[in-house]
Amino acid sequence: MTPPFQDFPTPSAGLLAAALCRLQEGVLLYAGDGRLVYANPAAQVLCRSHPLWSDAHARIEDLLPPHALPQARDEGRWNDYLPFGEGRMLAARLYVLDEHDGRFLLLLQDPGLVREGDQELLRRHEELNVRLTAAQAKLLQAEKLASIGQLAAGVAHEINNPIGYVHSNLASLQEYLSSLFALIDVYERALHSPDPRAMQAEIDTTRERLDIDFISRDLPQLMTESRQGIERVTRIVRDLKDFSRTERDSAWKLADLHAGLESTLNIVWNELRYKVTLEREYGTLPMVECLQSELNQVFMNLLLNAGQAIEERGVIGLRTGHADGMVWVEVSDNGPGIPADMQQRIFDPFFTTKPVGTGTGLGLSISYGIVAKHHGRIEVDSAPGAGSRFKVILPVRQPPRGA
Ligand SMILES: Nc1ncnc2c1ncn2[C@@H]1O[C@H](COP(=O)(O)OP(=O)(O)OP(=O)(O)O)[C@@H](O)[C@H]1O
Ligand SMILES: [Mg+2]
Repeated sequence: MTPPFQDFPTPSAGLLAAALCRLQEGVLLYAGDGRLVYANPAAQVLCRSHPLWSDAHARIEDLLPPHALPQARDEGRWNDYLPFGEGRMLAARLYVLDEHDGRFLLLLQDPGLVREGDQELLRRHEELNVRLTAAQAKLLQAEKLASIGQLAAGVAHEINNPIGYVHSNLASLQEYLSSLFALIDVYERALHSPDPRAMQAEIDTTRERLDIDFISRDLPQLMTESRQGIERVTRIVRDLKDFSRTERDSAWKLADLHAGLESTLNIVWNELRYKVTLEREYGTLPMVECLQSELNQVFMNLLLNAGQAIEERGVIGLRTGHADGMVWVEVSDNGPGIPADMQQRIFDPFFTTKPVGTGTGLGLSISYGIVAKHHGRIEVDSAPGAGSRFKVILPVRQPPRGA
């Protein structure tokens, strides 16, 4: 009779070593300080073809995306496909072996080695992945358009305001112009009269009647104010256009996050202006490799959430900083805060505490996805009565494709 599984004795070290040597899956062991301490033959073959991985002194944190180790430490494991040069992908699984000294086990598998019968499964998996990515892109765009829909009235107001005073300035300018033409008319008559000096008195009265001194003071001011109004409208329209754009090519570009924050503020400002005092504390930020319009969507969601958390009057803090190849943008509010048990759920799709028709519950889940795509993370610090802080942490440079 075969013994039940738990009755097998633990195999000897020799037997385990022989098994590791025959495995087609790459097995790598790392010490707590990130040094490689063991690689089975399959791992050695896999890594040999890669410039970075073939360096046996490379540390684990330099080989994996920045969020891999933190996630493995938090959840015990991390897995994903790793670009491995020349368009090749490897399935990678990382486990924390020992919580105390932080040893890691990394398994690498070349999907090309998967048995014949699994190829169909892989193909279906890839097909589903493509469809999922397309669906996610649509959702992203739909959420963005829904927010723009919500904000439309506010944006219209932001545009209407300057248009209103430019319009009234134009009416004054028209009046000023007819006064100036009337004065020119008197000057012309004087010029063509046999004795121009005799008309000096008429010129003086006309100047006084038409209040030309006031016009010459007011006109430059009107022009400056109108130009600023038009510039403001142009800026809002441009921000809105940038914001609603889909980044189809999804190529990373270097961007100024402060400029992104300011244009996002332009769009949401009408939602916040009546109850919020904004406190900016911007640090010095390098240009960041990112998809700017998607990050703006994250900032908008966080700003709107902060504004919606404040009932009557409150403060929203907007802080930025930079250290060790990472940048961070923090949106804080002094609203009611989020209870600990709820913090687990706020990133879930469709989780909302807002009345029907106000929130879809997608803001944070979409923001989480965007930030993860940027190899970053969002940290929440909140407690009932103590307000909330959402910190978006991003790498300044994205890991090279295929590295
Ligand atoms: N700054 C905050 N203060 C208090 N609660 C917050 C804050 N930000 C988010 N939450 C909570 O997290 C929930 C989920 O937020 P999320 O942005 O995903 O959805 P929503 O704001 O409810 O709806 P949507 O963003 O789709 O309009 C909110 O309903 C709210 O309960
Ligand atoms: Mg929201």
